[in-house]
Amino acid sequence: MGEKVYIFDTTLRDGEQAPGFSMTTGEKLQMAQQLARLNVDIIEAGFAAASKGDWEAINLIAKEVKGPVICSLARALERDIEAAAEALKPAERKRIHTFIATSPIHMKYKLKMSPEEVLERAKKAVSYARNFTDDVEFSCEDATRSEREFLYKIIEEAIKAGATVINIPDTVGYAIPDEFYNLIRDIKENVPNIDKAIISVHCHDDLGLATANSLMAVLAGARQVECTINGIGERAGNAALEEVVMALKVRKDHFKGLYTEVNTPELYKTSRLLCRITGTFVQPNKAIVGDNAFAHESGIHQHGVLAKRETYEIMKPEDVGFPKSKIVLGKHSGRHALKAKLKELGYEVDEETLNKLFEKFKALADQKKEVYEEDLEALIYEQFRTSGGEDYLKLEHLQVQTGNNILPTATVKLVFKGEEKTATETGNGPVDAAIKAIQKATGIKPKFVDYSIKALTPNTDAQAEARVVIELDGIKASGRASDIDIVKASVKAYVDALNRLLARKEYLRSKQNISREGTV
Ligand code: KIV
Ligand code: ZN
Repeated sequence: MGEKVYIFDTTLRDGEQAPGFSMTTGEKLQMAQQLARLNVDIIEAGFAAASKGDWEAINLIAKEVKGPVICSLARALERDIEAAAEALKPAERKRIHTFIATSPIHMKYKLKMSPEEVLERAKKAVSYARNFTDDVEFSCEDATRSEREFLYKIIEEAIKAGATVINIPDTVGYAIPDEFYNLIRDIKENVPNIDKAIISVHCHDDLGLATANSLMAVLAGARQVECTINGIGERAGNAALEEVVMALKVRKDHFKGLYTEVNTPELYKTSRLLCRITGTFVQPNKAIVGDNAFAHESGIHQHGVLAKRETYEIMKPEDVGFPKSKIVLGKHSGRHALKAKLKELGYEVDEETLNKLFEKFKALADQKKEVYEEDLEALIYEQFRTSGGEDYLKLEHLQVQTGNNILPTATVKLVFKGEEKTATETGNGPVDAAIKAIQKATGIKPKFVDYSIKALTPNTDAQAEARVVIELDGIKASGRASDIDIVKASVKAYVDALNRLLARKEYLRSKQNISREGTV
Protein backbone atom coordinates (compact mmCIF):
# COMPACT_ATOMS: atom_id res chain seq x y z
CA MET A 1 0.00 0.00 0.00
CA GLY A 2 1.20 3.53 -0.76
CA GLU A 3 1.17 6.54 1.52
CA LYS A 4 -1.88 8.27 2.96
CA VAL A 5 -3.12 11.59 1.55
CA TYR A 6 -4.78 13.65 4.29
CA ILE A 7 -8.07 15.29 3.41
CA PHE A 8 -8.50 18.76 4.91
CA ASP A 9 -12.06 19.95 4.45
CA THR A 10 -12.58 23.72 4.32
CA THR A 11 -16.29 23.76 3.38
CA LEU A 12 -17.10 25.55 6.63
CA ARG A 13 -14.40 28.20 6.16
CA ASP A 14 -13.40 28.91 2.55
CA GLY A 15 -16.69 27.46 1.30
CA GLU A 16 -18.89 29.26 3.77
CA GLN A 17 -17.26 32.64 3.14
CA ALA A 18 -18.44 32.62 -0.50
CA PRO A 19 -21.62 34.61 -1.28
CA GLY A 20 -24.79 32.54 -1.02
CA PHE A 21 -23.24 29.81 1.17
CA SER A 22 -23.49 31.29 4.65
CA MET A 23 -24.71 28.91 7.36
CA THR A 24 -26.05 29.33 10.86
CA THR A 25 -24.15 27.85 13.81
CA GLY A 26 -26.58 24.92 14.01
CA GLU A 27 -26.22 24.23 10.30
CA LYS A 28 -22.42 24.30 10.57
CA LEU A 29 -22.59 21.76 13.38
CA GLN A 30 -24.85 19.50 11.33
CA MET A 31 -22.45 19.75 8.39
CA ALA A 32 -19.41 19.08 10.62
CA GLN A 33 -21.08 15.96 12.03
CA GLN A 34 -21.63 14.69 8.50
CA LEU A 35 -18.00 15.49 7.61
CA ALA A 36 -16.97 13.35 10.59
CA ARG A 37 -19.12 10.49 9.23
CA LEU A 38 -17.40 11.03 5.89
CA ASN A 39 -14.17 10.55 7.87
CA VAL A 40 -12.23 13.56 6.62
CA ASP A 41 -8.96 14.05 8.52
CA ILE A 42 -9.24 17.75 9.32
CA ILE A 43 -12.27 20.05 9.49
CA GLU A 44 -11.48 23.74 9.11
CA ALA A 45 -14.49 24.95 11.07
CA GLY A 46 -14.08 28.67 10.45
CA PHE A 47 -12.01 31.76 11.09
CA ALA A 48 -12.42 32.48 14.80
CA ALA A 49 -11.39 36.17 14.73
CA ALA A 50 -13.66 36.99 11.77
CA SER A 51 -16.90 37.28 13.75
CA LYS A 52 -18.68 36.21 16.92
CA GLY A 53 -20.71 33.75 14.82
CA ASP A 54 -17.57 32.09 13.43
CA TRP A 55 -16.03 31.84 16.90
CA GLU A 56 -19.17 30.25 18.34
CA ALA A 57 -19.47 27.75 15.50
CA ILE A 58 -15.83 26.64 15.88
CA ASN A 59 -16.28 26.34 19.62
CA LEU A 60 -19.47 24.27 19.28
CA ILE A 61 -17.90 21.99 16.67
CA ALA A 62 -14.80 21.62 18.88
CA LYS A 63 -17.08 20.49 21.74
CA GLU A 64 -19.38 18.20 19.79
CA VAL A 65 -17.55 16.67 16.86
CA LYS A 66 -15.28 13.72 17.55
CA GLY A 67 -12.82 12.09 15.17
CA PRO A 68 -11.30 14.66 12.81
CA VAL A 69 -8.81 17.32 13.90
CA ILE A 70 -10.72 20.62 14.29
CA CYS A 71 -8.97 23.65 12.86
CA SER A 72 -9.40 27.42 12.85
CA LEU A 73 -7.87 29.88 10.44
CA ALA A 74 -5.96 32.85 11.89
CA ARG A 75 -4.05 35.70 10.27
CA ALA A 76 -0.44 35.99 11.41
CA LEU A 77 -1.55 38.16 14.32
CA GLU A 78 -1.43 37.35 18.02
CA ARG A 79 -5.06 38.32 18.61
CA ASP A 80 -6.26 36.06 15.77
CA ILE A 81 -4.20 33.15 17.09
CA GLU A 82 -5.57 33.71 20.59
CA ALA A 83 -9.15 33.76 19.27
CA ALA A 84 -8.49 30.51 17.37
CA ALA A 85 -6.90 28.85 20.42
CA GLU A 86 -9.74 29.89 22.71
CA ALA A 87 -12.45 28.69 20.30
CA LEU A 88 -10.65 25.37 19.79
CA LYS A 89 -10.09 24.70 23.51
CA PRO A 90 -12.70 21.91 23.88
CA ALA A 91 -11.44 19.94 20.85
CA GLU A 92 -9.83 16.53 21.41
CA ARG A 93 -7.39 17.30 18.59
CA LYS A 94 -6.88 20.86 17.37
CA ARG A 95 -4.95 22.73 14.71
CA ILE A 96 -4.23 26.43 14.28
CA HIS A 97 -3.84 27.43 10.65
CA THR A 98 -2.03 30.73 10.33
CA PHE A 99 -1.27 32.49 7.07
CA ILE A 100 0.25 35.53 5.45
CA ALA A 101 0.55 36.57 1.81
CA THR A 102 3.96 36.06 0.20
CA SER A 103 3.51 37.33 -3.38
CA PRO A 104 4.96 40.74 -4.34
CA ILE A 105 1.53 42.08 -5.34
CA HIS A 106 -0.13 41.07 -2.04
CA MET A 107 2.77 42.22 0.14
CA LYS A 108 3.03 45.61 -1.57
CA TYR A 109 -0.62 46.56 -2.13
CA LYS A 110 -2.60 44.60 0.44
CA LEU A 111 -0.29 44.19 3.42
CA LYS A 112 1.92 47.22 2.68
CA MET A 113 4.81 45.29 4.21
CA SER A 114 8.31 44.47 3.02
CA PRO A 115 9.30 40.80 2.48
CA GLU A 116 11.52 41.02 5.58
CA GLU A 117 8.58 42.18 7.69
CA VAL A 118 6.40 39.39 6.29
CA LEU A 119 9.10 36.82 7.13
CA GLU A 120 9.35 38.09 10.71
CA ARG A 121 5.57 38.13 11.11
CA ALA A 122 5.31 34.54 9.85
CA LYS A 123 7.99 33.24 12.23
CA LYS A 124 6.41 34.99 15.21
CA ALA A 125 2.93 33.78 14.35
CA VAL A 126 3.96 30.14 14.00
CA SER A 127 5.94 30.07 17.24
CA TYR A 128 3.13 31.90 19.06
CA ALA A 129 0.59 29.36 17.78
CA ARG A 130 2.80 26.51 19.05
CA ASN A 131 2.10 27.75 22.61
CA PHE A 132 -1.46 26.47 22.18
CA THR A 133 -1.06 23.29 20.14
CA ASP A 134 1.62 21.09 18.57
CA ASP A 135 -0.35 21.00 15.33
CA VAL A 136 0.31 24.26 13.46
CA GLU A 137 -0.23 24.82 9.75
CA PHE A 138 1.35 27.73 7.93
CA SER A 139 0.06 29.00 4.56
CA CYS A 140 1.90 31.22 2.11
CA GLU A 141 -1.09 32.99 0.61
CA ASP A 142 -0.81 33.49 -3.17
CA ALA A 143 2.14 31.06 -3.24
CA THR A 144 1.83 30.44 -6.98
CA ARG A 145 2.57 34.11 -7.70
CA SER A 146 5.36 34.37 -5.11
CA GLU A 147 9.07 34.57 -5.86
CA ARG A 148 10.67 31.15 -5.49
CA GLU A 149 13.65 32.10 -3.32
CA PHE A 150 11.42 34.03 -0.90
CA LEU A 151 8.96 31.15 -0.79
CA TYR A 152 11.73 28.61 0.04
CA LYS A 153 13.04 30.91 2.78
CA ILE A 154 9.70 31.58 4.48
CA ILE A 155 8.80 27.87 4.40
CA GLU A 156 12.15 26.93 5.95
CA GLU A 157 11.73 29.55 8.70
CA ALA A 158 8.12 28.55 9.38
CA ILE A 159 9.21 24.94 9.87
CA LYS A 160 12.04 26.04 12.18
CA ALA A 161 9.48 28.04 14.16
CA GLY A 162 7.37 24.89 14.60
CA ALA A 163 5.02 24.54 11.63
CA THR A 164 4.06 20.90 11.09
CA VAL A 165 2.09 21.44 7.87
CA ILE A 166 3.10 23.84 5.08
CA ASN A 167 0.27 24.82 2.79
CA ILE A 168 0.88 26.04 -0.76
CA PRO A 169 -2.27 27.82 -1.92
CA ASP A 170 -3.06 28.69 -5.50
CA THR A 171 -5.14 31.51 -4.06
CA VAL A 172 -6.29 33.02 -7.35
CA GLY A 173 -6.55 29.77 -9.34
CA TYR A 174 -3.73 30.84 -11.66
CA ALA A 175 -1.54 27.73 -11.84
CA ILE A 176 -1.44 25.23 -14.71
CA PRO A 177 -1.07 21.55 -13.69
CA ASP A 178 2.52 20.88 -14.88
CA GLU A 179 3.62 24.22 -13.44
CA PHE A 180 2.08 23.38 -10.07
CA TYR A 181 3.71 19.93 -10.11
CA ASN A 182 7.09 21.64 -10.66
CA LEU A 183 6.46 24.09 -7.83
CA ILE A 184 5.83 21.29 -5.31
CA ARG A 185 8.77 19.26 -6.61
CA ASP A 186 11.04 22.35 -6.34
CA ILE A 187 9.90 23.08 -2.79
CA LYS A 188 10.80 19.49 -1.88
CA GLU A 189 14.21 19.89 -3.47
CA ASN A 190 15.09 23.38 -2.22
CA VAL A 191 13.76 23.68 1.33
CA PRO A 192 16.35 21.88 3.48
CA ASN A 193 14.03 20.93 6.37
CA ILE A 194 10.91 20.16 4.29
CA ASP A 195 10.94 16.51 5.47
CA LYS A 196 9.89 17.78 8.93
CA ALA A 197 6.50 18.98 7.63
CA ILE A 198 3.64 17.69 5.53
CA ILE A 199 3.17 19.57 2.27
CA SER A 200 -0.41 20.62 1.71
CA VAL A 201 -2.08 22.24 -1.30
CA HIS A 202 -5.12 24.49 -1.54
CA CYS A 203 -6.25 25.17 -5.10
CA HIS A 204 -8.90 27.57 -6.35
CA ASP A 205 -10.86 26.87 -9.49
CA ASP A 206 -10.75 30.15 -11.43
CA LEU A 207 -9.52 28.33 -14.56
CA GLY A 208 -11.38 25.10 -13.79
CA LEU A 209 -8.08 23.42 -12.83
CA ALA A 210 -8.35 23.06 -9.05
CA THR A 211 -8.81 19.28 -9.00
CA ALA A 212 -6.16 18.71 -11.69
CA ASN A 213 -3.67 20.95 -9.87
CA SER A 214 -4.32 19.21 -6.52
CA LEU A 215 -3.74 15.78 -8.09
CA MET A 216 -0.52 16.90 -9.80
CA ALA A 217 0.68 18.23 -6.45
CA VAL A 218 0.00 14.84 -4.88
CA LEU A 219 2.08 13.18 -7.60
CA ALA A 220 4.87 15.63 -6.80
CA GLY A 221 4.81 14.79 -3.08
CA ALA A 222 2.02 16.78 -1.39
CA ARG A 223 0.32 14.64 1.26
CA GLN A 224 -2.56 16.89 2.29
CA VAL A 225 -5.24 18.30 -0.02
CA GLU A 226 -7.50 21.14 1.06
CA CYS A 227 -10.88 20.94 -0.60
CA THR A 228 -14.60 21.52 -0.16
CA ILE A 229 -17.81 19.59 -0.71
CA ASN A 230 -19.25 20.37 -4.17
CA GLY A 231 -16.16 22.56 -4.73
CA ILE A 232 -17.73 25.60 -3.07
CA GLY A 233 -15.47 28.49 -2.07
CA GLU A 234 -14.29 31.97 -2.94
CA ARG A 235 -15.20 33.04 -6.52
CA ALA A 236 -15.12 29.89 -8.72
CA GLY A 237 -14.58 27.76 -5.61
CA ASN A 238 -11.99 25.27 -4.35
CA ALA A 239 -10.99 21.79 -5.45
CA ALA A 240 -14.02 19.52 -4.98
CA LEU A 241 -13.39 16.95 -2.24
CA GLU A 242 -15.46 14.27 -3.97
CA GLU A 243 -13.44 14.64 -7.20
CA VAL A 244 -10.02 14.51 -5.54
CA VAL A 245 -10.96 11.54 -3.36
CA MET A 246 -12.58 9.51 -6.14
CA ALA A 247 -9.77 10.24 -8.62
CA LEU A 248 -7.26 8.86 -6.09
CA LYS A 249 -9.47 5.84 -5.44
CA VAL A 250 -10.52 4.97 -9.01
CA ARG A 251 -7.02 5.58 -10.43
CA LYS A 252 -4.90 4.16 -7.60
CA ASP A 253 -2.92 2.39 -10.31
CA HIS A 254 -1.78 5.79 -11.57
CA PHE A 255 -1.29 7.28 -8.10
CA LYS A 256 0.95 4.41 -7.02
CA GLY A 257 -1.31 3.18 -4.25
CA LEU A 258 -1.74 6.55 -2.53
CA TYR A 259 -4.97 6.47 -0.58
CA THR A 260 -7.33 8.53 1.57
CA GLU A 261 -9.41 7.27 4.47
CA VAL A 262 -12.57 9.00 3.30
CA ASN A 263 -15.72 6.90 3.70
CA THR A 264 -16.77 7.37 0.08
CA PRO A 265 -20.34 5.93 0.34
CA GLU A 266 -21.09 9.07 2.41
CA LEU A 267 -20.10 11.44 -0.43
CA TYR A 268 -23.50 11.83 -2.07
CA LYS A 269 -25.30 12.39 1.21
CA THR A 270 -22.76 15.02 2.28
CA SER A 271 -23.17 16.83 -1.02
CA ARG A 272 -26.96 16.86 -0.72
CA LEU A 273 -26.87 17.98 2.92
CA LEU A 274 -24.77 20.97 1.90
CA CYS A 275 -27.28 21.76 -0.87
CA ARG A 276 -30.18 21.64 1.54
CA ILE A 277 -28.42 23.75 4.13
CA THR A 278 -27.28 26.43 1.70
CA GLY A 279 -30.33 26.35 -0.57
CA THR A 280 -28.29 25.48 -3.65
CA PHE A 281 -28.28 22.76 -6.30
CA VAL A 282 -25.27 21.12 -7.95
CA GLN A 283 -25.29 21.16 -11.75
CA PRO A 284 -26.79 17.91 -13.13
CA ASN A 285 -23.53 16.98 -14.91
CA LYS A 286 -21.31 17.61 -11.83
CA ALA A 287 -18.67 14.88 -11.51
CA ILE A 288 -19.40 12.23 -8.83
CA VAL A 289 -22.50 13.82 -7.24
CA GLY A 290 -24.52 15.44 -10.08
CA ASP A 291 -27.97 13.99 -10.86
CA ASN A 292 -26.68 12.68 -14.21
CA ALA A 293 -23.34 11.34 -12.93
CA PHE A 294 -24.62 7.76 -13.30
CA ALA A 295 -27.45 8.29 -15.82
CA HIS A 296 -27.19 6.62 -19.20
CA GLU A 297 -29.49 8.27 -21.69
CA SER A 298 -28.29 7.06 -25.08
CA GLY A 299 -29.48 3.63 -26.24
CA ILE A 300 -25.93 2.52 -27.06
CA HIS A 301 -24.75 3.38 -23.55
CA GLN A 302 -27.78 1.72 -21.91
CA HIS A 303 -27.21 -1.42 -23.92
CA GLY A 304 -23.50 -1.44 -23.01
CA VAL A 305 -24.14 -0.97 -19.30
CA LEU A 306 -26.75 -3.72 -19.26
CA ALA A 307 -24.34 -6.11 -20.99
CA LYS A 308 -21.40 -5.13 -18.73
CA ARG A 309 -21.53 -2.23 -16.32
CA GLU A 310 -17.86 -1.31 -16.77
CA THR A 311 -18.40 -0.45 -20.46
CA TYR A 312 -19.54 3.03 -19.45
CA GLU A 313 -19.13 3.20 -15.65
CA ILE A 314 -15.71 3.64 -14.07
CA MET A 315 -17.09 3.48 -10.53
CA LYS A 316 -20.19 2.02 -8.93
CA PRO A 317 -22.97 4.39 -7.84
CA GLU A 318 -22.91 2.69 -4.42
CA ASP A 319 -19.20 3.58 -4.02
CA VAL A 320 -20.23 7.22 -3.62
CA GLY A 321 -23.61 6.50 -2.00
CA PHE A 322 -25.58 7.48 -5.07
CA PRO A 323 -29.18 6.53 -4.29
CA LYS A 324 -31.67 4.60 -6.30
CA SER A 325 -35.13 6.09 -5.74
CA LYS A 326 -36.49 3.55 -3.30
CA ILE A 327 -39.87 3.34 -1.62
CA VAL A 328 -38.93 3.15 2.01
CA LEU A 329 -42.08 3.44 4.07
CA GLY A 330 -45.81 3.67 3.73
CA LYS A 331 -48.69 4.98 5.81
CA HIS A 332 -48.86 1.79 7.87
CA SER A 333 -45.23 1.95 8.93
CA GLY A 334 -44.68 2.55 12.62
CA ARG A 335 -42.28 4.52 14.76
CA HIS A 336 -39.76 1.64 14.89
CA ALA A 337 -39.64 1.34 11.12
CA LEU A 338 -39.08 5.08 10.85
CA LYS A 339 -36.32 4.99 13.48
CA ALA A 340 -34.61 2.07 11.74
CA LYS A 341 -34.82 3.76 8.35
CA LEU A 342 -33.43 7.01 9.74
CA LYS A 343 -30.54 5.05 11.23
CA GLU A 344 -29.89 3.39 7.88
CA LEU A 345 -29.79 6.86 6.31
CA GLY A 346 -27.22 7.91 8.91
CA TYR A 347 -29.43 9.91 11.30
CA GLU A 348 -29.43 8.99 14.99
CA VAL A 349 -32.26 11.06 16.48
CA ASP A 350 -33.36 11.42 20.09
CA GLU A 351 -36.87 10.38 21.18
CA GLU A 352 -38.26 13.92 21.08
CA THR A 353 -37.04 14.52 17.52
CA LEU A 354 -38.26 11.08 16.50
CA ASN A 355 -41.74 11.89 17.81
CA LYS A 356 -41.86 15.15 15.88
CA LEU A 357 -40.56 13.50 12.74
CA PHE A 358 -43.06 10.67 13.12
CA GLU A 359 -45.98 13.12 13.24
CA LYS A 360 -44.74 14.81 10.08
CA PHE A 361 -44.08 11.46 8.43
CA LYS A 362 -47.65 10.29 9.20
CA ALA A 363 -49.10 13.51 7.78
CA LEU A 364 -47.02 13.06 4.63
CA ALA A 365 -47.84 9.36 4.32
CA ASP A 366 -51.55 10.22 4.52
CA GLN A 367 -51.14 12.63 1.64
CA LYS A 368 -49.04 10.36 -0.58
CA LYS A 369 -49.04 6.57 -0.51
CA GLU A 370 -45.31 5.96 -0.64
CA VAL A 371 -42.60 7.85 1.17
CA TYR A 372 -39.16 7.82 -0.48
CA GLU A 373 -35.71 8.32 1.00
CA GLU A 374 -35.61 11.79 -0.57
CA ASP A 375 -38.89 12.64 1.21
CA LEU A 376 -37.44 11.58 4.56
CA GLU A 377 -34.26 13.61 4.02
CA ALA A 378 -36.45 16.64 3.25
CA LEU A 379 -38.45 16.10 6.46
CA ILE A 380 -35.29 15.80 8.56
CA TYR A 381 -33.95 19.00 7.10
CA GLU A 382 -37.21 20.90 7.67
CA GLN A 383 -37.27 19.67 11.26
CA PHE A 384 -33.72 20.78 11.78
CA ARG A 385 -34.21 24.22 10.18
CA THR A 386 -37.24 25.11 12.23
CA SER A 387 -35.80 23.93 15.55
CA GLY A 388 -32.75 26.20 15.19
CA GLY A 389 -34.61 29.15 16.74
CA GLU A 390 -32.47 31.60 14.81
CA ASP A 391 -34.99 32.79 12.23
CA TYR A 392 -35.91 36.45 11.82
CA LEU A 393 -39.13 35.57 10.07
CA LYS A 394 -41.61 32.78 10.75
CA LEU A 395 -44.63 32.01 8.60
CA GLU A 396 -47.60 31.20 10.82
CA HIS A 397 -50.45 31.05 8.33
CA LEU A 398 -50.87 31.07 4.57
CA GLN A 399 -54.13 31.07 2.66
CA VAL A 400 -54.47 31.37 -1.12
CA GLN A 401 -57.40 31.54 -3.48
CA THR A 402 -56.92 30.81 -7.13
CA GLY A 403 -58.84 29.49 -10.13
CA ASN A 404 -59.63 30.28 -13.72
CA ASN A 405 -62.16 33.03 -12.98
CA ILE A 406 -60.78 34.77 -9.91
CA LEU A 407 -57.88 37.08 -9.20
CA PRO A 408 -55.27 35.05 -7.26
CA THR A 409 -55.24 36.36 -3.69
CA ALA A 410 -53.07 35.44 -0.69
CA THR A 411 -53.24 36.24 3.00
CA VAL A 412 -50.25 35.66 5.26
CA LYS A 413 -49.77 35.86 8.99
CA LEU A 414 -46.18 35.92 10.15
CA VAL A 415 -43.91 36.80 13.03
CA PHE A 416 -41.20 39.20 11.94
CA LYS A 417 -38.47 40.11 14.43
CA GLY A 418 -40.82 39.10 17.25
CA GLU A 419 -43.87 41.08 16.00
CA GLU A 420 -46.98 39.53 14.51
CA LYS A 421 -47.95 40.88 11.05
CA THR A 422 -50.79 40.13 8.66
CA ALA A 423 -51.21 41.17 5.01
CA THR A 424 -53.32 40.35 1.96
CA GLU A 425 -52.29 40.88 -1.66
CA THR A 426 -53.32 39.89 -5.17
CA GLY A 427 -50.93 38.75 -7.89
CA ASN A 428 -50.49 37.10 -11.28
CA GLY A 429 -50.67 33.70 -9.63
CA PRO A 430 -50.93 32.30 -6.09
CA VAL A 431 -47.14 32.31 -5.54
CA ASP A 432 -46.85 35.89 -6.77
CA ALA A 433 -49.72 36.97 -4.50
CA ALA A 434 -48.20 35.24 -1.46
CA ILE A 435 -44.73 36.74 -2.01
CA LYS A 436 -46.26 40.21 -2.41
CA ALA A 437 -48.20 39.73 0.84
CA ILE A 438 -44.96 38.79 2.68
CA GLN A 439 -43.23 41.84 1.20
CA LYS A 440 -46.09 44.06 2.36
CA ALA A 441 -45.99 42.57 5.89
CA THR A 442 -42.22 42.84 6.32
CA GLY A 443 -41.58 46.04 4.34
CA ILE A 444 -38.66 44.22 2.65
CA LYS A 445 -38.73 43.91 -1.12
CA PRO A 446 -35.74 42.00 -2.47
CA LYS A 447 -35.22 41.42 -6.18
CA PHE A 448 -35.80 37.85 -7.47
CA VAL A 449 -32.65 36.49 -9.13
CA ASP A 450 -33.80 32.93 -9.63
CA TYR A 451 -36.78 30.71 -8.88
CA SER A 452 -37.16 27.06 -9.73
CA ILE A 453 -39.30 24.19 -8.65
CA LYS A 454 -38.83 20.48 -9.17
CA ALA A 455 -40.47 17.22 -8.12
CA LEU A 456 -38.42 15.11 -5.70
CA THR A 457 -39.83 11.85 -7.02
CA PRO A 458 -41.41 10.97 -10.36
CA ASN A 459 -45.10 10.97 -9.37
CA THR A 460 -47.95 13.49 -9.38
CA ASP A 461 -48.12 13.26 -5.57
CA ALA A 462 -44.40 14.06 -5.31
CA GLN A 463 -43.04 16.54 -2.82
CA ALA A 464 -42.02 19.68 -4.66
CA GLU A 465 -38.68 21.23 -3.90
CA ALA A 466 -38.50 24.97 -4.50
CA ARG A 467 -35.38 27.10 -4.72
CA VAL A 468 -35.39 30.87 -4.60
CA VAL A 469 -32.49 33.30 -4.99
CA ILE A 470 -33.08 36.91 -3.93
CA GLU A 471 -30.93 40.04 -3.76
CA LEU A 472 -31.08 43.16 -1.62
CA ASP A 473 -28.47 45.94 -1.39
CA GLY A 474 -25.99 43.82 -3.36
CA ILE A 475 -26.33 40.83 -1.00
CA LYS A 476 -27.63 37.59 -2.45
CA ALA A 477 -29.19 34.69 -0.58
CA SER A 478 -30.83 31.49 -1.63
CA GLY A 479 -33.51 29.46 0.07
CA ARG A 480 -34.87 26.02 -0.44
CA ALA A 481 -37.87 24.11 0.90
CA SER A 482 -40.03 21.16 0.10
CA ASP A 483 -43.72 20.48 0.48
CA ILE A 484 -46.34 18.39 -1.22
CA ASP A 485 -48.01 21.68 -2.23
CA ILE A 486 -46.01 23.78 -4.71
CA VAL A 487 -47.33 27.12 -3.40
CA LYS A 488 -46.32 26.23 0.16
CA ALA A 489 -42.92 24.95 -1.02
CA SER A 490 -42.30 28.22 -2.90
CA VAL A 491 -43.37 30.44 -0.03
CA LYS A 492 -41.31 28.44 2.49
CA ALA A 493 -38.27 28.70 0.18
CA TYR A 494 -38.79 32.48 -0.05
CA VAL A 495 -39.00 32.78 3.76
CA ASP A 496 -35.87 30.62 4.04
CA ALA A 497 -34.02 32.90 1.60
CA LEU A 498 -35.18 36.01 3.43
CA ASN A 499 -33.93 34.60 6.75
CA ARG A 500 -30.55 33.83 5.19
CA LEU A 501 -30.39 37.28 3.61
CA LEU A 502 -31.04 38.99 6.94
CA ALA A 503 -28.54 36.71 8.71
CA ARG A 504 -25.94 37.38 6.02
CA LYS A 505 -26.45 41.17 6.31
CA GLU A 506 -25.83 40.88 10.04
CA TYR A 507 -22.78 38.66 9.48
CA LEU A 508 -21.25 41.08 6.95
CA ARG A 509 -21.84 43.98 9.34
CA SER A 510 -19.91 42.14 12.07
CA LYS A 511 -17.11 41.30 9.62
CA GLN A 512 -16.66 44.82 8.26
CA ASN A 513 -13.36 45.70 9.95
CA ILE A 514 -11.58 42.45 9.13
CA SER A 515 -10.65 43.29 5.51
CA ARG A 516 -8.27 46.06 6.44
CA GLU A 517 -5.66 43.65 7.77
CA GLY A 518 -5.65 41.08 5.02
CA THR A 519 -8.36 39.26 3.19
CA VAL A 520 -8.92 35.54 2.93
O1 KIV B 1 -6.93 30.73 -0.87
C1 KIV B 1 -6.14 30.93 0.08
O2 KIV B 1 -4.99 31.34 -0.08
C2 KIV B 1 -6.66 30.67 1.41
C3 KIV B 1 -5.63 30.63 2.51
C4 KIV B 1 -6.10 31.36 3.71
C5 KIV B 1 -5.24 29.23 2.79
O3 KIV B 1 -7.82 30.40 1.59
ZN1 ZN C 1 -8.74 29.72 -0.32
